[in-house]
Amino acid sequence: MSEPAIPEVTWTRKDLVGIADLSVEEIELILDTADSFQEVSQRSIKKVPTLRGKTVLNLFFEPSTRTRSSFELAEKRLSADALNFSGSGSALSKGESLIDTARNLEAMAPDLVIIRHQHPGVPHMLAQRLESGVINAGDGAHEHPTQALLDAFTIRQHKGRLAGLAVTIVGDIEHSRVVRSNIHLLVKMGAQVTVAGPRTMMPAAVEKLGVRVSYDLDEALTDADVVMMLRVQLERHGQSLFPSTREYFQLFGLTQARLAQAKDDAIVMHPGPMNRGVEISSAVADGKTSVILEQVANGVAVRMAVLYLLSLAQQGDG
Ligand code: CP
Repeated sequence: MSEPAIPEVTWTRKDLVGIADLSVEEIELILDTADSFQEVSQRSIKKVPTLRGKTVLNLFFEPSTRTRSSFELAEKRLSADALNFSGSGSALSKGESLIDTARNLEAMAPDLVIIRHQHPGVPHMLAQRLESGVINAGDGAHEHPTQALLDAFTIRQHKGRLAGLAVTIVGDIEHSRVVRSNIHLLVKMGAQVTVAGPRTMMPAAVEKLGVRVSYDLDEALTDADVVMMLRVQLERHGQSLFPSTREYFQLFGLTQARLAQAKDDAIVMHPGPMNRGVEISSAVADGKTSVILEQVANGVAVRMAVLYLLSLAQQGDG
C-alpha cells in the first residue's frame, strides 16, 4: 500500500465551496494532484494510506449517484474513515436545524465535511461556522465545484490544455450548478465559452460571466472543441419552460448530424444523469466521441486530490 508520487505542495484553503473563489494556480494544483492520484485506481489493491486516521462526513440532502459514490470511493481509496448521513431518518425531521445538526456531527470530530443541499449557500454557511473543512458537492442551482474540476481534468486529458479551446455548453443554463462552476473555471483558464439553450432557460446577463450566448444550436456547435450537454432540470422548474420533450430534442437535442458542425476531434461531455432522447441521442451518448464515462471515472481521482489538499489545511502544514 505505497503512497502515490505526490509532489510537495503548499495549500492553505480550508474549504472548497465554489470555483468562483479559486485562483488559476489553485485550479492547476488540484488538476496536477489528481494526475498523481489517478494511478491508484489502476492498482490491483486500490488503497493508499494518505488519509489514514482522518474522518470524513458525507452529508447528502439531495439524491446523487456519481458525486456521492465517487466521494465515498475517494475516501476509501485514501484510507479515510467515512460516515454517511442522509437528511431522511435523522433528527432534522424532529425540527432540529441544519446548523445544530452539523454542530452535533462536528462534535464527533470529522476532519472534512462533504455537503450536497438543495439551497444555494448552505456549504458557505457551514464553512463559516465549522472548524472542519467543507466541500460543496452541489448547492441548489449555485455551484458544483468538484464536477467542474473533473470536467476540466477530462478535457485536459484529451486536449492537453484548456486555454484557447472553444467549449459549447448546451441546455438548461438557468438551473444548472454544473454550468455555473464550469463557466467560472473555463473562463479563468482562458477557454472561449459559448452557452446555448432556449431563451426560457437562459439567465439574464449571463454574458457578464465572460461567455457568448447563442439560441441556435447549429451555430453554437460550429467548430467547437468540446460540447458539454446539460440535463433539463425539471425538478427546479416552477412551470413548464418548453412545450414538449419532443420539441426540445428537435431544437436543442444533440444528434450525430448536429455534432458534425463541431470539429472532427470534438469530445462530447455530460455530467449525468442523462435524459436520453431529450438533450442527447443514445447514438451520441454511447458514440466514439463521448467521454461521459471517463468523466465519472476521473471524478474519483479529482475528489481524492481535493480531499488530500484540504486535509493539508486542516493539519496546518500546507
Ligand atoms: N453529476 C452529478 O452531480 O451527478 P449526481 O447527481 O449523480 O451526483
